[in-house]
Amino acid sequence: FGTADALPVADESADLVSASNAAHWFEDIDGFYREVNRVLKPNGCLAIYGVSNIHICPDSKSDELQTMIDEFYYVTLNDFWTENCIKLHKNYYGFYHPPFQVVKRHDWIPLHVRGTVSDVIGYLRSLTPCHKYIKVNPQSNVLQELEDRIMRVLGVTSSPEQTPLHYFYLVYLITARKT
Ligand SMILES: C[S@@+](CC[C@H](N)C(=O)[O-])C[C@H]1O[C@@H](n2cnc3c(N)ncnc32)[C@H](O)[C@@H]1O
Repeated sequence: FGTADALPVADESADLVSASNAAHWFEDIDGFYREVNRVLKPNGCLAIYGVSNIHICPDSKSDELQTMIDEFYYVTLNDFWTENCIKLHKNYYGFYHPPFQVVKRHDWIPLHVRGTVSDVIGYLRSLTPCHKYIKVNPQSNVLQELEDRIMRVLGVTSSPEQTPLHYFYLVYLITARKT
């Protein structure tokens, strides 16, 4: 499927190019913009978006749960995030500057999920930095331990798959139009 700086798409053939949870990994973001400019039709659009860490919706146990999740996301995975990922964590998604005349930035849009403890652990496991962490630490049980700790805090007897958890992500969205 090519790469961000070499899209296998004909000139001026696309109405929309989107980069979902991905542009912060691109090593050559200017090469990506060049390709977007090439493949978009006049008036075509670019959308770059992504999500924050998980935020547990406020209730009596949310502070404790959030601390544990943040510790995994920011501390355990610390060495496996790129510089641009760390900027995103600090709300610096302003580093995206698509070279188009019309650029709009939509600040963090809440995306609510009524999921389960398993869903939260599954999401954390799916993160690219988590894959890298497990490669370096193949014996680690860190996610199982996190799941166990979450279950202990919730104090329920149901399984993680059946234990509801209400959480949200914050989505940033940068849209641009090629005029
Ligand atoms: C976190 S995943 C997001 C996957 C999917 N877009 C989504 O929203 O679920 C990051 C994706 O960025 C892709 N990626 C990273 N660097 C890339 C590059 N230079 N060119 C194209 N894709 C890239 C990876 O292959 C990976 O699929």
